[in-house]
Amino acid sequence: METLTIAMAKGRTSKRALRILAQMGIQFSIQPEDSRKLVFTDDTETIKLLQVKAVDVPTYVEKGAADLGVVGKDIVMEDVPNVYELADLDIGRCKMAVAGFPETKLRNNTTLTVATKYPNVTKSYFDQKGFRTDIIKLNGSIELAPLIGLADVIVDIVETGTTLKENGLVILEEIADISARLIVNKASYAIKTASIRQFIDSMNAEVK
Ligand code: PRP
Repeated sequence: METLTIAMAKGRTSKRALRILAQMGIQFSIQPEDSRKLVFTDDTETIKLLQVKAVDVPTYVEKGAADLGVVGKDIVMEDVPNVYELADLDIGRCKMAVAGFPETKLRNNTTLTVATKYPNVTKSYFDQKGFRTDIIKLNGSIELAPLIGLADVIVDIVETGTTLKENGLVILEEIADISARLIVNKASYAIKTASIRQFIDSMNAEVK
């Protein structure tokens, strides 16, 4: 089989993605999770794994630096990369939601200040509802924004709900179901169709 390059981020999701790869017979002599290396080749030398930041996975795949990428649907929704999304890995399940104080009412007669890592998704969500928004882009600890009066509400990922709960916040509206997806470079798919289809079929068999 020809070599396929996969971009993936370190972290919770990648541990489970690596387990799926192992079940597919793709094993690494050096464990990517325990290493500071950035490129790994599997024991059969058919898979090259690139360890990148989660938000950069779509860029590697769109530009063809990787044939495949494992990335959260949240990042795909925000970036809208020009790639194929060909499988739902059923891992990293969570929700993207609007959250705030329980007493906060979402009204469209004033400008709503929203803190988020996802300004594009946030803008189009509230635009569709006819809300005016002032969006504040943050890179983490989003839940802090309403607590200190930086924003009225947030748009963020909710997994267990613990972060919201511990900060006295609740989900006000759900925007989307999120999970890790397999994205594919369009040219790679045209050139390496058989290998990529075989990879996806093998992956789907382990996911289900
Ligand atoms: C994510 C997300 C929430 C939290 C939700 O943050 O932005 O803050 O996890 O998870 P929970 O519902 O299980 O509490 P992450 O851990 O990625 O850290 P960050 O604040 O640096 O983005």
